[in-house]
Amino acid sequence: MNTITRKSNPLILGIESSCDETAAAVICGRKLLSDEIASSSSVQAKFGGVVPEIASREHLSVVDGVVANALKNAGVKKEEIDAVAVTYGAGLLGALLVGLSFAKGFAYGLGIPLIGVNHIRGHLAAAYLEDETLEPPFITLLASGGHTAVIHTKSETEFEVLGGTLDDAAGEAFDKVARILALPYPGGPHIEKLAREGKNTVPLPKMLKGNGGYDFSYSGLKTAVLNYCHTKEQRGEALNKADVAASFQSAALDILVQKTVEAARERGIKTVTAGGGVVANGYLRETLKAACDRAGLNLILPEKRHCTDNAAMIAAEGLLQWNAGNFSPLSLNAEASIPLR
Ligand code: KG4
Ligand code: ZN
Repeated sequence: MNTITRKSNPLILGIESSCDETAAAVICGRKLLSDEIASSSSVQAKFGGVVPEIASREHLSVVDGVVANALKNAGVKKEEIDAVAVTYGAGLLGALLVGLSFAKGFAYGLGIPLIGVNHIRGHLAAAYLEDETLEPPFITLLASGGHTAVIHTKSETEFEVLGGTLDDAAGEAFDKVARILALPYPGGPHIEKLAREGKNTVPLPKMLKGNGGYDFSYSGLKTAVLNYCHTKEQRGEALNKADVAASFQSAALDILVQKTVEAARERGIKTVTAGGGVVANGYLRETLKAACDRAGLNLILPEKRHCTDNAAMIAAEGLLQWNAGNFSPLSLNAEASIPLR
């Protein structure tokens, strides 16, 4: 693999299958040529969460077609692809193995390099597609279903986790509160929709600061929502779910905005980016934008479809690894969890 002559604008096929989205995308340098996503979330919704076995089977039945569409819509032949970037972790093992095995076969068949991508690094890289001139350093707010952290990206391949959740990830908290409110899975978009009809009037703890610094905790907030709903029920009082949703949403997200802007200010960094499914939340996008404007920070927000799981971000991270000359052996294995710090 070291003998590869590297172009500066390679055609990279990205493949993502870590959870319930089967996705493929093609980029040429930082330019996105195609971006395909097939989701099994409507199938999973019946079970109130992702069933790993179902996710694997769904990936297997669609991966071939999703990749074929990505190539077709990009207007490129498979022989023109320079490298395949694929998520190898973190995620559901069976689901990961489908995308990873497909990518290995593709790379081996065409004699091109394989680039194993850490899913979380993919979320961090999504911003590079939004602004082709974006360069480190920047501060990133990462908020997904599995991770929530404030990160200092120092170069294309080096980053420092400044702080993050001490318990649940932000997306996980949204999903758990959605369950309390009997909303469908995945909970985030349903809470956001309901919150638009409600007011931030339910008293919930704002003390989410964990042990100080950039860390914070969601467990107290989730319990407070649960207690509030139970008490209402026990007293036979009507529960205004929209107000609960609006109050929870602001308590859960305001802290993220605050910590992110604080980190940029303290480190003297002028650019802020964000990534992960929770960043698709309109309230978060608006409050982060307003806070960055007030602090004189430049905010680069990936479009919503590049915040939730997608393959464009995997291809984007693949490009950073390509630039660094980091390729993976065909023996690369899937990993269920990869520590963030
Ligand atoms: O990044 P992602 O698609 O998958 C992981 O890598 O985890 O994030 C999924 C999470 C879920 O917990 C989902 O409820 C949350 O992102 N999410 C949202 C919104 N859209 C997705 N949370 C709040 N508001 C949204 N609009
Ligand atoms: Zn994700």
